[in-house]
Amino acid sequence: MSFPTHRPRRLRQSPAVRRLVRETHLVPSQLVLPAFVREGLSEPVPIGSMPGIVQHSLDSLRRAAADAAEAGVGGIMLFGVPAVRDAVGSGADDPDGILNVATQAVIAEVGEAIVVQTDLCLDEFTDHGHCGVLDADGSVDNDATLERYAAMGLAQARAGSHLLGLSGMMDGQVAHVRAALDAEGFTDTIILAYAAKYAGAFYGPFREAVDSQLKGDRRTYQLDPGNPREGLREALLDVEEGADIVMVKPALPYLDVLAEVRASVDVPVWAYQVSGEYAMIEAAAAHNWIDRRGAITESLLGIRRAGADAILTYWALEAAEWLRASL
Ligand code: PBG
Repeated sequence: MSFPTHRPRRLRQSPAVRRLVRETHLVPSQLVLPAFVREGLSEPVPIGSMPGIVQHSLDSLRRAAADAAEAGVGGIMLFGVPAVRDAVGSGADDPDGILNVATQAVIAEVGEAIVVQTDLCLDEFTDHGHCGVLDADGSVDNDATLERYAAMGLAQARAGSHLLGLSGMMDGQVAHVRAALDAEGFTDTIILAYAAKYAGAFYGPFREAVDSQLKGDRRTYQLDPGNPREGLREALLDVEEGADIVMVKPALPYLDVLAEVRASVDVPVWAYQVSGEYAMIEAAAAHNWIDRRGAITESLLGIRRAGADAILTYWALEAAEWLRASL
């Protein structure tokens, strides 16, 4: 009778041993909660395609931020939904615009207890729904958009945002916004570059969440789903332009890109588990087709394993509460 020489199962024999040899860990501080705030609401409004997620009123947003800070969540990323839109997205850099007002309100509530972050992109504020301004023939004008981003970045920094999430995928946006911030003395404002952001189907529920006006698609600025090399190139360019953190988005369909970027840069790399990823798991769980908590935890662990230092996820608060209870 011959016995196996190698018995990897030895390290799986009990919960205590498995915990001791676990290679990848998730902690609340690695999670960032995206949150929507809509102008003019007195009560939060549920988002149909994102069960459990709402468009916040200013009051409910403040409470959500306080709850997230209390649970040890690392950050909160704010998205504004304005009541009125126009061609250039004037609400974005208006100090009285919803996102800037909400930023001030959240900072007043939580101070430095959690990193308060703002989406820096025009799509929620334009009446055509594109991430930039349009030129005469209707295409997105890269360099004219950079001027709008600089104004928006300054408005967000003045409102107190700790970190600007540049999600518009315009060429040169990181360097341009960095220069504008520095010239006004905002040298401490952190820039997160959505470096490798792929165009595709997984943003559908988000577009309901922000009441997006977009017709058509974003394929002239967001990346083609088949292009990992181009995603890496975008990340390297953003680091060169001065990004403090780079992001890969969506998360689960792009784990290869995430791993590649993590191996290639020396700044933190984040991933965004986007609205469509959230909706898929929620919908399957609602049918009892998968175990909800198991699937959520496994998806977050997979994103961490591929190399994300932190994850934007709509489950941030709930997952942080689970993680704290399991310590
Ligand atoms: C652009 C932006 C989008 C998302 C985050 N920032 C939308 C888009 O590119 O259409 C999507 C996030 C999600 O789907 O959860 N401001």
